[in-house]
Amino acid sequence: GKPNIGFVVGSASASSINRQLAQGLMKLIAPEANASLIEIAHLPLYNRDDDAAYPAVFQALKDQVKAQDGIVFVTPEQNRSVPALLKNALDAGSRPYGQGAWNGIPAAVIGTSPGAAATAMAQQHLRNILVFLDMPVMAQPEGFIRWSDGLIDAQGEIGEASRKFLQGYMSQFLAWVQVHRKA
Ligand code: FNR
Repeated sequence: GKPNIGFVVGSASASSINRQLAQGLMKLIAPEANASLIEIAHLPLYNRDDDAAYPAVFQALKDQVKAQDGIVFVTPEQNRSVPALLKNALDAGSRPYGQGAWNGIPAAVIGTSPGAAATAMAQQHLRNILVFLDMPVMAQPEGFIRWSDGLIDAQGEIGEASRKFLQGYMSQFLAWVQVHRKA
């Protein structure tokens, strides 16, 4: 059957450009994958004191993560790094010790910002975290997407100028998932 591809967006903003990008990517791969959003904006801050009776809200995140064949992280850059929102979700999904949900799931990193660096520095920090979590992270192509008004069209689809690149990006990731997803 089709692979399950989860999308994690590193922003809680109602008008998030990264959420718009994620939703555009989900539409691109709809014929080839079961794409879904993994919500993280509602999560409380992780505290290791809760490990003994792991909060249901974190367990639900972990269950959704483990159901994926691949995960695409679509994130803004905040102060040249990963948003705290996203780091919190990564932490919550990685515990209790030895019972993390992320390990072994192929991952891709992409993000958009109006700035010239287009989330490149946040993505490098994020790769470091994902490798530690034992996720096979796709190396190429990289997804440094500078936000412009045409990136997402009025129908919420990837605009003409970026569609070929992003279609190729997602095709490469689906191929990466085939190779690296452990049965
Ligand atoms: C930003 N922004 C930003 N942009 C960037 O390219 N590099 C950066 O380091 C930062 N730092 C930063 C910190 C904080 C606290 C905020 C609120 C914003 C701008 C950011 O790219 C812009 O707000 C995007 O629209 C955020 O993406 P979402 O939330 O729309 O998906």
